Amino acid sequence: MLIFEKTKKGRKCVDIKKPEVEKYNFDSSFLRENDANLPEAAEIDLVRHYSNYAGEAKGVDNVFYPLGSCTMKYNPKLNEEVASLKGFNAIHPLQDEVDVQGALEVMYTLSERLKEITGMDAVSLQPFAGAQGEYSALKLIEAYHKENSKTPRTKIIVPDSAHGTNPASARLAGYEVLNVKSNSEYGVDLDELKKVVGDDTAALMLTNPTTLGLFEKNIKKIAKIVHDLGGLLYYDGANLNPIMGVVRPGDMGFDVVHLNLHKTFSTPHGGGGPGSGPIGCKELLSKYLPNPKVVKVGNEYFFNSYESSIGKVGSFYGNFLVCLRALAYIETLGSDGIPQSAKLAVLNANYLKHNLETKYKAINSKSKYCMHEFVLSLEDLKKETGVSGMDVAKCLIDKNIHPPTMYFPLIVQEALMFEPTETESKETLDYAINSMLEIYELAHSNPEYCHDAPHNAIIKRPDETTAARNPILKHI
Ligand SMILES: Cc1ncc(COP(=O)(O)O)c(C=O)c1O
Repeated sequence: MLIFEKTKKGRKCVDIKKPEVEKYNFDSSFLRENDANLPEAAEIDLVRHYSNYAGEAKGVDNVFYPLGSCTMKYNPKLNEEVASLKGFNAIHPLQDEVDVQGALEVMYTLSERLKEITGMDAVSLQPFAGAQGEYSALKLIEAYHKENSKTPRTKIIVPDSAHGTNPASARLAGYEVLNVKSNSEYGVDLDELKKVVGDDTAALMLTNPTTLGLFEKNIKKIAKIVHDLGGLLYYDGANLNPIMGVVRPGDMGFDVVHLNLHKTFSTPHGGGGPGSGPIGCKELLSKYLPNPKVVKVGNEYFFNSYESSIGKVGSFYGNFLVCLRALAYIETLGSDGIPQSAKLAVLNANYLKHNLETKYKAINSKSKYCMHEFVLSLEDLKKETGVSGMDVAKCLIDKNIHPPTMYFPLIVQEALMFEPTETESKETLDYAINSMLEIYELAHSNPEYCHDAPHNAIIKRPDETTAARNPILKHI
């Protein structure tokens, strides 16, 4: 029920005293014709309304949230405190540069840190999400080839394990998308790559570790194949979490990257926001980065714009408070904490995988270890019991665990993708392992119960496709 539906005429939270100053009469052209349709409720009803909703929602702060590919790590409250400082959140993007030197210093320093972590030469913080970072970076690639390539570069290559935003961004940026098949170890098949790459290749988009949580060991060979034919290498940084401070995309051969600050560098996210998808690039692409850029002259910071830039890709300077949280996170961890956190993410994922493999089948059993996430295939379980990946995910809700990512990547049947992140304790991981093992037994002893799960949730099995395609948005 919406707060609008609970309206009672005349109810309010506070009675504001009538002002003692004389009422100013605005020109009627500035006034609305009808009163705004605002909910009217007493403060206690308002507080209960939102507190109850907050209690029903599942988030990182109240449950284990192993949503693969999404890096739902715990977000330190210190970052929130920093982001709520008035000097940062009560400023306006149109204020004079001299009045907001602190904010500019944050943007400059964060860009420097991200350059160091990714091995890139320049960074723009402007894109508001990973997908927008992809689009912006593809526009840099387009601008570069326009100026430097002898042949039209119209094609973007993506592996069949890629996140859906990769081909979608490439199409949106005007490219034709070519798929390259995975080999039997779920890495890029080099022979298949050689068949599709050519003098019309603009770039290959890749994430490493891949969306299957496996490190692409052939990355240097892949980079050579693409570079030798004049193409560029794009790094989808959504999976940077397990390698930050350990290896750098720039050293693997990537020319341009996007990062998901809201994942790797901690910001409460999900359900579409808030996000930030900075892009970084090697020198050869830096002159095309979005305008404006923060520059440092002596001890002062300024915005500069360049003619060669692809222009603006978002309003003002990006999602500033997400950038601020990311900087707070990076500075808190420091140069020792960043690689330590990456290693813990890998350790936690391997602990979970190893224990679940006693009953469930993880893909690529040849490779003993995964990186920060891993994918189970419940194909055999479904054949044996009729209980699907979706049923198991729904059973986890009854155990008060947020389901892992389901049915992704598309190349794995009955896929469940777990990413525990570095912030979970051994006790939490043990609880998740026991829960999954109990569900496995339940699938064999009482499959009907699994088909009807969740039994304790308010919303049980919504038709998610229809809900996404034909949303019923309520507002009075
Ligand atoms: C591998 C990968 N690439 C790109 C994205 C897109 O990022 P965003 O959701 O911030 O647009 C995601 C998001 O889940 C992802 O997992």
